[in-house]
Amino acid sequence: MKQICSSHEIADPGSKEFSLKIGRETLEGFIVHKDGEFFAYKNSCPHTGASLNWQEDQFLDMDLSFIQCSIHNALFECNSGYCIAGPCSGSSLEELKLNIIDNEIFINL
Ligand code: FES
Repeated sequence: MKQICSSHEIADPGSKEFSLKIGRETLEGFIVHKDGEFFAYKNSCPHTGASLNWQEDQFLDMDLSFIQCSIHNALFECNSGYCIAGPCSGSSLEELKLNIIDNEIFINL
């Protein structure tokens, strides 16, 4: 497990990106906080594999309802990563498993 941040560092709704070194690889991901729950996904759009965000920690749409890809505006459900609109409609973000222990968020590797 790798520690990312404290749960209170992410607004509800809100999101935060992270980058983890795992051996020679780097895992780019982000955490979404929505309706009291936390979810983690790889920062890779199923449409092209590009990073979803163009601003630091900004993964949600204007209404803070969905995860939004900044390149072609695909929308993904926060709690499942499922794409409901856009060029990769019907596909999903790759979910990462997380644990919250004493208000600290960890990613399971
Ligand atoms: S790269 Fe994400 S919608 Fe095209």
